[in-house]
Amino acid sequence: MGNRAALLLLVLLLCYGVTTAIGFVKEETEEKGTEREERREGEDRFLLHDTKHVVKTDAGDMRVVRSFGWRMIERPMHIGFITMEPKTLFIPHYLDSSLIIFIRRGEAKIGLIYKDELGERRLKSGDIYHIPAGSAFYLVNTGEGQRLHIICSIDQSESLRLGAFQSFFIGGGTYPTSVLSGFEPETLSTAFNVTIDEFKEIMTRQKDGPIVYLDDSRAPRSSIWTNFLQMKEQDRLQRLKRLIEFQQEPMEEEEETTWSWRKLLNSVFKTGKSPDSYNIYKKSPDFRNYYGSSIALDDSDYDPLKHAGLGVYLVNLTAGSMMAPHVNPTATEYGVVLRGTGTIQIVYPNGTQAMKVKVAEGDVFWVPRYFPFCQIASRTGPFEFFGFTTSARKNRPQFLAGASSVLRTLKGPELAAAYGMSNESLNHLLEAQRESVILPSASAAPPDMAKKKVDRVQKAMRSYDSDMIID
Ligand SMILES: *[C@@H]1O[C@H](CO)[C@@H](O)[C@H](O)[C@H]1NC(C)=O
Ligand SMILES: *[C@@H]1O[C@H](CO)[C@@H](O)[C@H](O)[C@H]1NC(C)=O
Ligand SMILES: *[C@@H]1O[C@H](CO)[C@@H](O)[C@H](O)[C@H]1NC(C)=O
Ligand SMILES: *[C@@H]1O[C@H](CO)[C@@H](O)[C@H](O)[C@H]1NC(C)=O
Repeated sequence: MGNRAALLLLVLLLCYGVTTAIGFVKEETEEKGTEREERREGEDRFLLHDTKHVVKTDAGDMRVVRSFGWRMIERPMHIGFITMEPKTLFIPHYLDSSLIIFIRRGEAKIGLIYKDELGERRLKSGDIYHIPAGSAFYLVNTGEGQRLHIICSIDQSESLRLGAFQSFFIGGGTYPTSVLSGFEPETLSTAFNVTIDEFKEIMTRQKDGPIVYLDDSRAPRSSIWTNFLQMKEQDRLQRLKRLIEFQQEPMEEEEETTWSWRKLLNSVFKTGKSPDSYNIYKKSPDFRNYYGSSIALDDSDYDPLKHAGLGVYLVNLTAGSMMAPHVNPTATEYGVVLRGTGTIQIVYPNGTQAMKVKVAEGDVFWVPRYFPFCQIASRTGPFEFFGFTTSARKNRPQFLAGASSVLRTLKGPELAAAYGMSNESLNHLLEAQRESVILPSASAAPPDMAKKKVDRVQKAMRSYDSDMIID
């Protein structure tokens, strides 16, 4: 039985039947509605709190922070956190959403099917990797005695819109439920040319969940996965290919749903291009000064971002520093705090404060396109955050303060008139800050320095008053 069952289960792995596709994350939209409404009035409306465990097993978990129901989001995206214990496997499945994964800590091997081929890549801390919607993949924690931490964007542009996102487990039994469970046993028995009993046995074997130990002693049932991973790459590819062919045979009963999935799958295969990873830590910062650094990846750095339509960034502020107030004119931004604590301030286009909130490691925030905002590191240590922007093109933030600000660029009699200031007062105000992009913040400066600055601004504002009187 051993070998044959293993093979069969592998076949099941990728076989498709959408009827019982696992609806990971649908539900709750209604009940949570009122709560969300309240939160919208609150102070932290641009923090994403709506967290849900979509996978939780002894071997690991996946948590999704959702950005549902916000009318202002032009392109809703969720942020996922995957944690895997050493020697574990996230079993093969595919999603109706595309992912960009970031290896936060640890090492991984990812197997991904693209263009009829199984590509396996080793990934390490800092690596960015794109998983297109509909591409079956698996993940293995290859770190020696090391937990694997992954942060990913979950982009729903191609999704079936059945919920936050939809996961299709190819293998499975009672947990996760295989997508095959929805077929008549007779249908499967015929399709696979095995007896109904054989099939039933297989469909109830897997109980360990989507993330399993590869180590036999800990979880005997997952030995099947160990076998799978011990096969030669070529054999694994053959298996997976056969499965894909099976999936593409018409299945009348599920015509409508399979259609959309197949279409999705085909589109992925057509555009498939040998994927590679990109290590964000290897890129030299786009901006760096004494107060911090920032790195942005766009499609010119990493081609798969073009297909994903997303950008990736990483910012590191030293204690007490501030990312100058700025606006993203072309993208909504999602951020995850990686280290330290800080404050995020966001302003409505009409000039009223939208949010000012303290954030700490693991918090997820988002900033709508066009909204001015800034991030300030607390004085206790560096503040690191990482995230995604909804544009793969170069995102050119427009700074509202600092030496490279648009105000500095606009400096002149017109701007002076717009503020009702004299040329001189305006110059005084705009030239005072010598740093750009990342600034030392007032809260970090010694109290007397901070006071001097306040005095200077007040003086500028007073001269603005007297100008008005003269006029
Ligand atoms: C089904 O399996 C039997 C042996 O178990 C084999 O003789 C037969 O050819 C198979 N049929 C198909 C269609 O593969
Ligand atoms: C961020 O900056 C701190 C020092 O301020 C440094 O220790 C840390 O390694 C930096 N992190 C990254 C990811 O560059
Ligand atoms: C500014 O816009 C926000 C969001 O649209 C609104 O809640 C707030 O009342 C507005 N403030 C003023 C002063 O118009
Ligand atoms: C500001 O400078 C412009 C020329 O640069 C000049 O024409 C204008 O009179 C000045 N305005 C004031 C209030 O000094």
